[in-house]
Amino acid sequence: MDTIAAIVRTAGQPLEITTLQLDEPAINEVQVKITAAGVCHTDAIARDQIYETFLPAVFGHEGAGVVTAIGPNVTSVKPGDKVVLGFNSCGQCKQCMAGAPAYCANFYPLNFGCTRTDGSTAFSENGEQVGSHFFGQSTFAHHVNASARSVVKVDDDVPLELLGPLGCGLSTGAGAILNSLGVTAGDTVAVFGTGAVGSAAIMAAAAVGATTIIAVDLHDSRLSNALELGATHTINSGTEDPVARIRDISGDGVEYALDTTGVTAVTRQAADSLAINGTVGLVGAPAPGQEVSFEVGASLVRGWKFRTIIEGDAVPQDFIPRIVHLWRQGKFPIEKLVRNYPIENINDAFADSASGEVIKPIVVFA
Ligand SMILES: NC(=O)c1ccc[n+]([C@@H]2O[C@H](COP(=O)([O-])OP(=O)(O)OC[C@H]3O[C@@H](n4cnc5c(N)ncnc54)[C@H](O)[C@@H]3O)[C@@H](O)[C@H]2O)c1
Ligand SMILES: [Zn+2]
Ligand SMILES: [Zn+2]
Repeated sequence: MDTIAAIVRTAGQPLEITTLQLDEPAINEVQVKITAAGVCHTDAIARDQIYETFLPAVFGHEGAGVVTAIGPNVTSVKPGDKVVLGFNSCGQCKQCMAGAPAYCANFYPLNFGCTRTDGSTAFSENGEQVGSHFFGQSTFAHHVNASARSVVKVDDDVPLELLGPLGCGLSTGAGAILNSLGVTAGDTVAVFGTGAVGSAAIMAAAAVGATTIIAVDLHDSRLSNALELGATHTINSGTEDPVARIRDISGDGVEYALDTTGVTAVTRQAADSLAINGTVGLVGAPAPGQEVSFEVGASLVRGWKFRTIIEGDAVPQDFIPRIVHLWRQGKFPIEKLVRNYPIENINDAFADSASGEVIKPIVVFA
């Protein structure tokens, strides 16, 4: 079948709306008609090929839509089901078997490879292969064949236009707080970067009753939004020293510092903001090869920990429905983060995320 998609032909170039051909779902795949897909910073990283993929390719990894067909081995969903699409994993490696698919040994080829494992692609253009299966989905397309392990069934009454970002950015921020760091009532938390991932982290920290939630960013508009989401303090690190301010606010530093910026200098600030026995969680994605240094001698006696975090340690089929429950109770107000764009304006969606104008752009198919 033909389908409309936003394609990246060359690294760093704007996305181009075009008509592609979609093949049949493979045995372990689900064909989904996409209602809407969030734009994550990782889509921009892929567009710019900071992490290399097959090109040309269709990106998009926060899709939500309705199942239209299933491959012969799929039993988890059926046509007509509403679904949100998360990251992909192999289901067979040690980490997948242990319930940690975010650390799947095959994570990179399955999520950034943009082909199936046999080298085929779901999309083509006049007989030429076009990369698909970005995070098992490539949902900047009206119809996709997604890996069944990416597909999460959601309730029939949920608004699909809103929930796609649970597929990556919002699950990553919420999962970092709830799963990876285990923040609980009364805890002190600093969140560096109040974009989509950081905002989700703040909502999750507030939902579990953390009592000091310090938001750090360079944009005042994002910081005021963070206050509405449950932050108790804000710091503009362009005008104030965040480490000194965090120590002022918290006494001896915070128990948890989450870095969502992808800026290595901020990772160091996060470490310097910790209380004794505190933990840094790192979700921001700098370009490969970058390094951070830490003071060792004096920090040795502080027992601090450093944790890298992929996808909030979520198992999508378990975690996404949990966050939908929080959203239903008003404890995870996704609507405060989003702006919708018709697919024709997808490059504006990328630009508005990069400039800080919009926290979570969502492209919507007519
Ligand atoms: N680990 C994972 O599994 C995972 C999943 C999703 C996204 N990511 C990565 O997480 C990061 C955040 O994603 P996002 O969608 O929230 O991006 P975003 O661009 O919406 O947010 C990043 C925020 O960091 C702020 N920032 C930048 N430099 C700063 C500084 N020096 N001090 C304070 N704040 C600063 C920006 O103003 C922005 O608000 C990206 O690097 C993305 O690629 C990682
Ligand atoms: Zn695996
Ligand atoms: Zn993402």
